[in-house]
Amino acid sequence: MRAAVALLAVLAVLAKGPYAEDCQIQQYPPKGPTYKGNIPKYVINLDLPPHERWAQVAREKQAELKILVEHIKNIMVMLFPSAKLVHLLETKMAWLGSTLPYPFNEEIKGIADATGAVLGDIVIFNVFYEIFTVCTSIVAEDRAGKLYHARNLDFGLFLGWDIKNNTWTLTQKLKPLMVSLDFQRNNKTVFKSSNLAGYVGMVSGIKPGIFTLTMNERFSIDGGYIGVFEWIFGKRDGWWMSFLTRTILENSTSYEEAKDKLANTRLLAPAYFILGGNKSGQGCVITRSRTAALDVWNLNSSKGTWYVLETNYDRWKVPLVVDDRRTPATKCMNRTMQQNVSLPALYNVLSTKPILNKLTVSTTLMEVHEGHIETYLRNCPDPCSPW
Ligand SMILES: *[C@@H]1O[C@H](CO)[C@@H](O)[C@H](O)[C@H]1NC(C)=O
Ligand SMILES: *[C@@H]1O[C@H](CO)[C@@H](O)[C@H](O)[C@H]1NC(C)=O
Ligand SMILES: *[C@@H]1O[C@H](CO)[C@@H](O)[C@H](O)[C@H]1NC(C)=O
Ligand SMILES: *[C@@H]1O[C@H](CO)[C@@H](O)[C@H](O)[C@H]1NC(C)=O
Ligand SMILES: *[C@@H]1O[C@H](CO)[C@@H](O)[C@H](O)[C@H]1NC(C)=O
Ligand SMILES: *[C@@H]1O[C@H](CO)[C@@H](O)[C@H](O)[C@H]1NC(C)=O
Ligand SMILES: *[C@@H]1O[C@H](CO)[C@@H](O)[C@H](O)[C@H]1NC(C)=O
Repeated sequence: MRAAVALLAVLAVLAKGPYAEDCQIQQYPPKGPTYKGNIPKYVINLDLPPHERWAQVAREKQAELKILVEHIKNIMVMLFPSAKLVHLLETKMAWLGSTLPYPFNEEIKGIADATGAVLGDIVIFNVFYEIFTVCTSIVAEDRAGKLYHARNLDFGLFLGWDIKNNTWTLTQKLKPLMVSLDFQRNNKTVFKSSNLAGYVGMVSGIKPGIFTLTMNERFSIDGGYIGVFEWIFGKRDGWWMSFLTRTILENSTSYEEAKDKLANTRLLAPAYFILGGNKSGQGCVITRSRTAALDVWNLNSSKGTWYVLETNYDRWKVPLVVDDRRTPATKCMNRTMQQNVSLPALYNVLSTKPILNKLTVSTTLMEVHEGHIETYLRNCPDPCSPW
């Protein structure tokens, strides 16, 4: 492990300022040094028993998943000083997996069985990812009332810096795991998502013709840990956030229903939900505490609110000085102007440093009417902000 805490402190000081750049243009179709490649497509058949749904993906991504799990284990050895403790944690995690709600418990077990991985490790991956994701999400409406939804997935913070390559080790290991998923019932698409193989919750997805949904991490004193600990000790009245988004993508049938559930379901940890619908005005950022919606920020084109944008800070607070992706993203959206809004225009915004940074795994673009979703793996060549 090359995690160097001192180095991180230096990076924090250097971050942003020198890495900011002017709003990018003409980045689409994706090309050049910030474009790392496309991702493979898989069908997930919801008619199969949960245990079997992920078998093909899991088997084909077995090697990459193994590398990732080994890496996470190395991190745990660092955090917990003895191998015995890590083993104990794995056992506990396997048990935690069994307490997760159906069908997620079964699906996770199926992934472990298909890859030959230790169940506890796959559970850790599913829990870790939920708690450490930072991101930028945007819903925008064009002059004709057509909606676009885009996001950068940024992940891997503080879990090891590769000094030789100037990259986050975990971020690099996640890129080969990104897959495009088409969830079907009766051979018909129910929803689509871009996600990491081995992970059964959803952080980005589209219900064709109906809504688009992304989730961003919200850091808070009353953070993820308390809810997770409560869960472990038997108080299980809240939802894991990405299980809620998955359930909504799978089973909700309208923007309003999705919005109501995202705003009012009790959660294990705070979160931001970014939801787009299928007609003018249907777009919002929901800022959640574990128990309530603290704020719902709606699109309102007639009032000049033609986009809503969320990074990882409450919109009524200033972002951390060393992590302000909101100001540049807002600036680039303003400069784009409503008449130019399109998926390529959003790709340009999300390609601008530091919105694009060393943690960025991928960029996803969605358009609801066509049921369209496309995802590109990203690189952020130096000079580039670490987050
Ligand atoms: C670092 O970069 C080199 C050369 O591009 C590559 O061969 C190596 O696999 C990279 N290391 C990691 C940990 O990504
Ligand atoms: C789905 O399509 C496959 C192949 O086209 C067919 O064998 C199968 O019976 C279909 N399943 C359903 C539930 O319609
Ligand atoms: C969606 O609803 C169906 C039918 O009630 C249920 O079997 C399925 O488990 C639900 N999906 C999720 C992810 O909860
Ligand atoms: C938009 O979503 C609603 C459900 O909220 C659905 O009834 C309607 O058909 C959708 N409109 C289009 C144009 O797909
Ligand atoms: C949009 O703004 C107008 C003018 O302030 C207001 O009347 C309308 O209710 C708003 N629409 C929504 C959906 O909030
Ligand atoms: C973007 O435009 C909005 C609305 O005009 C304005 O309030 C905001 O200050 C602008 N932000 C930036 C960073 O340009
Ligand atoms: C945006 O639209 C305006 C007016 O249609 C045009 O003059 C301008 O060049 C466009 N800007 C970009 C970045 O496409």
